[in-house]
Amino acid sequence: MCGIVAYIGPREAYPVILKGLKRLEYRGYDSAGVALLDRELKVYRKQGRVAGLEESVIGKDLHAHAGIGHTRWATHGEPSDRNAHPHLSASGRLAMIHNGIIENYAQLKNELVKKGYPFKSDTDTEVLLNFIEYIQDNNHCSLEEALRIALKRVVGAYVIVLLEKDHPDTLIAARKGSPLVIGIGKGEHFLASDASPIIEYTKEVVYVNDYELAIIKCDELILKNLGNEKITPYIQKLDLELTAIEKGGYDHFMLKEIFEQPDTVFDCLRGRLDVGKGTITMAGVQNHLDKLSQAKRIIIVACGTSWHAGLIAEYVLEECCRIPVEVEYASEFRYRNPVIHPGDVIIAISQSGETADTIVAIENAKEQGAFIFGVVNVVGSSISRISHAGAYTHAGPEIGVASTKAFTAQLVVLLLIALKIAFEKRSIPEDRYMKLLAELQSIPEKIKELLRSADHIRNLAEKYKDARDALYLGRGYSFPVALEGALKLKEISYIHAEGYPAAEMKHGPIALVDENLPVLFVATRDAYHEKIVSNIQEIKARKGKVVAVISEGDEIITGLADDIMMVPVTDEMTAPLLSVIPLQLFACYLGMAKGLDVDKPRNLAKSVTVE
Ligand code: AGP
Ligand code: GLU
Repeated sequence: MCGIVAYIGPREAYPVILKGLKRLEYRGYDSAGVALLDRELKVYRKQGRVAGLEESVIGKDLHAHAGIGHTRWATHGEPSDRNAHPHLSASGRLAMIHNGIIENYAQLKNELVKKGYPFKSDTDTEVLLNFIEYIQDNNHCSLEEALRIALKRVVGAYVIVLLEKDHPDTLIAARKGSPLVIGIGKGEHFLASDASPIIEYTKEVVYVNDYELAIIKCDELILKNLGNEKITPYIQKLDLELTAIEKGGYDHFMLKEIFEQPDTVFDCLRGRLDVGKGTITMAGVQNHLDKLSQAKRIIIVACGTSWHAGLIAEYVLEECCRIPVEVEYASEFRYRNPVIHPGDVIIAISQSGETADTIVAIENAKEQGAFIFGVVNVVGSSISRISHAGAYTHAGPEIGVASTKAFTAQLVVLLLIALKIAFEKRSIPEDRYMKLLAELQSIPEKIKELLRSADHIRNLAEKYKDARDALYLGRGYSFPVALEGALKLKEISYIHAEGYPAAEMKHGPIALVDENLPVLFVATRDAYHEKIVSNIQEIKARKGKVVAVISEGDEIITGLADDIMMVPVTDEMTAPLLSVIPLQLFACYLGMAKGLDVDKPRNLAKSVTVE
């Protein structure tokens, strides 16, 4: 997830590109850069926001009528000037910007290093660029032809735009898995990740499809497939306003990010899960597999939603790996002088990687000899740098303050880690291991399926929007989901909500139940189903309103509950990846029904970098 902008035409390219990058900063801003082609290929790039780039180029030669620009959301190589895009090829003849992930970059890099190619960055992008240059030199062919050949070897997602020093009248772009829009102007063309940098110049756009190449001149756009066959561009008229474009047509970033989850879960699995081979590829785990699999104890440290992910990880790790796990609030762990043994493994979970309590908690543990493994979304963030090893969640920038897509991405990574350790320890039967891999692979499609019931959930939110309190109940893997659902409702709609283990009701909270109290059950099909049915009956007997998240086909609870939210059938261990989503939607729609700012709830910050 990042922003790309490119221009070719009679205007000065730099101002068009700079303004476009500012419009795309919501997509990620680890660094920014531009390449401008006049007689020379001029590259300016800088870690940090676009404004920093703008300042750094004052007084520089910015004249050009063709250029490419990029705001980076790092996936390979931490945020820095050297890892910023655009990248130059080894010869300096080509400049490229890239949005996406090249999964087989390590293999390509090995081949190129053996051929003597130098690398100036740690990115997968530079590998792809040098591979393209290598193909062009080796085959003595055009850049377009070299790109077609190279992309047949590439595994991963990309939008790339290239400048070639000897051809200042041409831009070449290609797309697979990341978005690319081309704006059609009069004697000019605009390229961008979405229409927001384009809409002020033209409303005529072409959405490039996967496996298509675009060869673009001032007054000519040629689309081809990888088989070198021309494709007639399908020109559409933009009808969205600017702000709507940034939110992908959704009213709020939170809603957009909830609906992104089929893609973000897929991106999180990308390059890691191979069901056919029964393998999980995670360098951060592989390189420390002994330490992780022989750990005497795993302590999970996190805050908020990430702490809920840690609770689910506790159940998964103990069930799959038979390693004792403790889950700690970072804010408590850092102060209570915990007993840490050198053989302990600490898993720090954090979307931002900048949560102050989590940082200090793991620094303290690290000083006492613990091994720190970070599960983080923001590449190069503090926690990722403090950790001895880690795995990124690749959920892309999460703009909404309430964490949604980052949570499900954390669950995917934690499940992969547990299964990789379990495979090493042979601590679960092989058929169970293989079944879970297959089930994980099916999750993106199952999320897509359950999101089709969003309108129904919106109606439920309307129905319960005047509630003053709510209880969220679940058992086993569904208990942390109940906690997460309650947190979402609190932080988005300001309704007081509590999550509880369903069996705990009889130890006090059931005194709260009356006809005004909605009780939300996370009740997907699992070993506790009969027990949760009894808990629902206990609530009904006291006139409580029951809303249940259930598995498709659950006639029993459908007959008992006042309202239901259905998710596809899945394994109990992967169920949280599905059952949390109706609760995210319920909270978001309820906040919207109350006219609240669901992206920036009162009193909250996206990253709590203070104690
Ligand atoms: C979750 O919706 C909240 N935004 C909050 O609880 C958050 O999960 C917590 O502050 C931890 O943030 P982190 O994952 O960036 O460390
Ligand atoms: N994978 C590339 C990098 O880490 C591109 C990331 C992006 O989409 O910004 O530099």
